[in-house]
Amino acid sequence: MTGAERTPPLDAIEALTTRVSPAGLVPPAPDASALDRMFRAAVRAPDHGRLRPWRFIVVDGAARETLGDVLTDALRVRDPNVADAALAKERAKPLRAPLVVVVAAKIRDHRGVPPVEQIVAAGAAAQNILVAAHALGYGGFWRTGAAAYDEQVKRALGLAVEDAIVGFIYLGTPSVASSPLPPADPAPYVTHWTGPASTET
Ligand SMILES: Cc1cc2nc3c(=O)[nH]c(=O)nc-3n(C[C@H](O)[C@H](O)[C@H](O)COP(=O)(O)O)c2cc1C
Repeated sequence: MTGAERTPPLDAIEALTTRVSPAGLVPPAPDASALDRMFRAAVRAPDHGRLRPWRFIVVDGAARETLGDVLTDALRVRDPNVADAALAKERAKPLRAPLVVVVAAKIRDHRGVPPVEQIVAAGAAAQNILVAAHALGYGGFWRTGAAAYDEQVKRALGLAVEDAIVGFIYLGTPSVASSPLPPADPAPYVTHWTGPASTET
């Protein structure tokens, strides 16, 4: 049974307000049709200048073990004295889910669209993937860590060193039903601006 068959897709607001990082992800991974829908959602992310900076590198099956080797080799270079336990943990990371999408921003030198905006656009695409996965009955979580900024890892993934890995998006089926959502009250973060702040102290 695929995620898409499990339940009808959630409506947009419900998907946005109930998305959560599942505690664990197991097979099945999103099938080809679900992945296609997720990527179609991803490329609808806002994108200054229509630069299409996003790249989606799918790593599944045995390729996850190869990615684990890449992460381990890179960690060994970053920290030659790293403990075996840390290496083993690094090697196992891509196996935390049946499928990983590395979301990257291919950074272009553009006068009107600085790199930060290209990275933000790729980040919005990553978020669209997570929300679409949730809406379709799958689950996903976003990870970065030092590997995301590692030149050796970027090269192994076919990226240039000036490109940005914005996230390793782990995708699969939540292993357990999510516990109640943590409170998400927007009130502390919302203000209504009516004019310049006073500069008086
Ligand atoms: C750019 C980015 C990078 C992240 N990297 C990590 C990470 O490396 N490790 C981690 O535990 N959480 C990371 N997170 C946070 C989790 O993906 C997750 O959002 C957080 O644990 C809150 O859980 P929730 O998604 O269920 O609200 C990252 C989030 C973002 C946006």
